[in-house]
Amino acid sequence: MNKDKLKIIGLNGSLRKKSYNGAALRFAQKNMPDNSELEILDLSKLPFFNEDVEAEGIPSVVSEFIDKLLQADGFLISTPEYNYSIPPVLKNAIDWASRDERMPFKDKWVALMSASMGGLGGARAQYHLRQVGIYPEMRFLNKPEVFIGSAHTKFDDAGNLVDEFTQKSIIKLISTLIDNINK
Ligand code: FNR
Repeated sequence: MNKDKLKIIGLNGSLRKKSYNGAALRFAQKNMPDNSELEILDLSKLPFFNEDVEAEGIPSVVSEFIDKLLQADGFLISTPEYNYSIPPVLKNAIDWASRDERMPFKDKWVALMSASMGGLGGARAQYHLRQVGIYPEMRFLNKPEVFIGSAHTKFDDAGNLVDEFTQKSIIKLISTLIDNINK
């Protein structure tokens, strides 16, 4: 990453190759404000959090993940809703990070979006995520809220975001995130 630019780290709650949340993050990546860039991390290699594993020594894949979080100026999280909450892959990543005494999320702005096949666009997952972020001291943007409902109608088969309202909403979200970091 270019050090002159603000570093935003993107986290996706879905591991699916054709994930709508992944597609939303890639749209954001292509449309980041000039002074910023988005790196989307792969959460699929993080082991399940286990205090026994932690006591034996933090796995290198976890240390590398936490190092990336520490270098971040802010975060953009996009997640599906699984059974009215956040998927385990995202909770697991936050759980690992929350154990590091350097507090990689502390006081950093976090922008949220969610894409879901349901009509509510993952709203319930976002509200659970806000609760999970209390102990790690994530600083969530309250607005704009980006809920991508009926996600299967908003992206084409190649994963391009084709819905104009959603495009504008994501662009507004990332510009608000960068403005808040710069304040
Ligand atoms: C879902 N889905 C779902 N959708 C929703 O709106 N509310 C929900 O509670 C759930 N619950 C749920 C549980 C599980 C285990 C799965 C696998 C799916 C559907 C979900 O919105 C859909 O699969 C999205 O496409 C997932 O996001 P990605 O993978 O496209 O990013």
